Amino acid sequence: MLQKITVVGAGNVGATTAQRLAEKELARTVVMVDVIEGVPQGKGLDQWESAPIEGFDTRVVGANDYAPAAGSELVVVTAGIARKPGMSRDDLVRTNADIVKQVAQQIKQVCPNAIVVVVSNPLDVMCWVTKQVTGFPRERVIGMAGVLDTARYRAFLAEALDVSVQDIQAMVLGGHGDTMVPLTSYTTVSGIPVTQLLDQATLDKIVDRTRNGGAEIVAFLKTGSAYYAPSAAVTAMVEAIVKDKKRVLPCAAWLEGEYGLKGMYCGVPGKLGRKGLERILEVQLTAAETAALKQSADAVKETMAAVKL
Ligand code: APR
Repeated sequence: MLQKITVVGAGNVGATTAQRLAEKELARTVVMVDVIEGVPQGKGLDQWESAPIEGFDTRVVGANDYAPAAGSELVVVTAGIARKPGMSRDDLVRTNADIVKQVAQQIKQVCPNAIVVVVSNPLDVMCWVTKQVTGFPRERVIGMAGVLDTARYRAFLAEALDVSVQDIQAMVLGGHGDTMVPLTSYTTVSGIPVTQLLDQATLDKIVDRTRNGGAEIVAFLKTGSAYYAPSAAVTAMVEAIVKDKKRVLPCAAWLEGEYGLKGMYCGVPGKLGRKGLERILEVQLTAAETAALKQSADAVKETMAAVKL
């Protein structure tokens, strides 16, 4: 376990993540930082009081300043405002960029060696803001999107096939938005290509539902966006890093020419270990997947253009 992990933002995603990290004892201390007075302290205390029942020894503490976060080896950034019905992730960009800028400045000051996992949306752009402001290398600034998008895709496939979610292997790449790219050519059920088990029309429907997975939840909740699956996804990434598992997971990564993309964040397969993003894997894509990835990258670039750094 690490000594200290900080979660910035004690809202739905942040607080649920803190609880999951504590239950898995991924750090001695989990610090939650939020601007709302009392909320991180109250939620942290409530979570710590669940420790004797759940049997974990991770201390969860909350604060409105960054002093308790000093020296954190890993920071999860969930600060921002969540999407409201009818709002695209891109509508959020300016407000959340200002918030993430402030957060990144604090991270740079109090924990200059931390690995940062960004969750705030629009994800790829918030990763870029964090990397620019902290000046951290790309190994230490990664984004959570693909693990969530892939989980949604796997859940829908498991339902359609009536098989265990455990036996669905898949990868969703691209930017975190309606242009994301679920790779049907790499989707298997225990090694069996999914195209042998589902017809194209059904697959297309599932791909479409995956692309709109976030909006589907927002339409139900009305006053917020998803947090159970997002917090599970970020916890899986943190666990891979903390335990140096070398897991291959889709990550939003700073690209320097991989997949023909440069100077931007986009979802690609990455290897996660104790150093953070230890490698980007370049896999062969079909012509259609390459075109879809390019389109997705263009959408990310457009959103980047709305932010002044
Ligand atoms: N520093 C710290 N916390 C902040 C700051 C800041 N500068 N600004 C806002 N926050 C906090 C809010 O006070 C709130 O508690 O961020 C928290 C966000 O929580 P929610 O509104 O519940 O949003 P949540 O569902 O957790 O989503 C957070 O993750 O998945 C993404 O799109 C989502 O960008 C959103 C983020």
